[in-house]
Amino acid sequence: MPMYIARTAVETEDHSLRSVELAFQHDSDRERFFSGYRPGQFCQLSIFGKGEASFGVASAAWEGSFVRFTINKIGVFTKAIHGMQPGDPIGMRGALGTWYPVEEWKGADIVVIGGGYAFTTLYALTKHLLDPKLRQEYGDLTVIYGAREPGLFLYKPEMKMWSRRDDVTLFQTIDTPREDWDGLTGYVPTVTKELAPRADNAVAFVCGPPVMIKFTLPVLNELGFPPDRIYTSLERRMKCGIGKCGRCNIGPKYVCKDGPVFSLAALGELPAEF
Ligand SMILES: Cc1cc2nc3c(=O)[nH]c(=O)nc-3n(C[C@H](O)[C@H](O)[C@H](O)COP(=O)(O)OP(=O)(O)OC[C@H]3O[C@@H](n4cnc5c(N)ncnc54)[C@H](O)[C@@H]3O)c2cc1C
Ligand code: FES
Repeated sequence: MPMYIARTAVETEDHSLRSVELAFQHDSDRERFFSGYRPGQFCQLSIFGKGEASFGVASAAWEGSFVRFTINKIGVFTKAIHGMQPGDPIGMRGALGTWYPVEEWKGADIVVIGGGYAFTTLYALTKHLLDPKLRQEYGDLTVIYGAREPGLFLYKPEMKMWSRRDDVTLFQTIDTPREDWDGLTGYVPTVTKELAPRADNAVAFVCGPPVMIKFTLPVLNELGFPPDRIYTSLERRMKCGIGKCGRCNIGPKYVCKDGPVFSLAALGELPAEF
């Protein structure tokens, strides 16, 4: 569907990550998108002459009639998006794939664990749960979010607000101590183990670099989270985004269609590379 750039914001001090908020050119597209979109899903964005690539949605529906993506500048396509200005046109397919199924867990405590820029869809999930109309339907909301260094945290103004709210408990951690940081230090799996969020009546949503996921899942296991109460989101190179081209498989699963969000129970064993 045809979209245009409504707003852009640099997220990180090194300027490698930028958020773009896309607005709809047609009301009918907006209605169709929001009638189906759930946090955890991704879209295929396309720029004429530059191709198409996948990005997780970083906004919740109640935030407004835009769709946010937070984009790491690494190659041809992502550099092109970083160079775009408000008003520029861009194509969008989606929302695609599976989502974090929080609607199945009303009444439960929610533990969100993220690392690096893969935090984008967990941010959408947390914003979704903070919808004033929805928040009271869940128990405690705990967010553990790690970045290599303070300047690499995304959504800094919002993080500041979350740290002052009493309906969400935010823990931010950086890899190693620094003079300009008075928060937690240590890798996400270690910090999760130390904080030891309660597992009874809780469900965990985990997304981050593969090495973070790999070491966080056993910690959650030790804390007593069963595999059907741990969800993770996986990333693979994608092409079609709809289960046709066979580009994105992990074992017998297609990440674009069966995922990107899987419960650990559904995934069985994580493949070796995770
Ligand atoms: C479901 C899903 C959600 C995603 N969400 C986001 C997001 O929220 N923000 C974001 O910045 N990116 C996200 N990505 C990754 C994004 O699609 C790629 O970074 C993008 O395709 C790169 O395009 P490019 O032309 O700029 O880089 P290219 O020139 O295509 O690639 C540059 C380098 O990055 C490597 N690379 C590119 N994509 C991937 C990948 N998926 N896995 C491993 N290595 C890769 C390439 O091998 C190459 O070395 C997501 C991918 C998937 C599948
Ligand atoms: S991207 Fe084509 S099958 Fe998944």
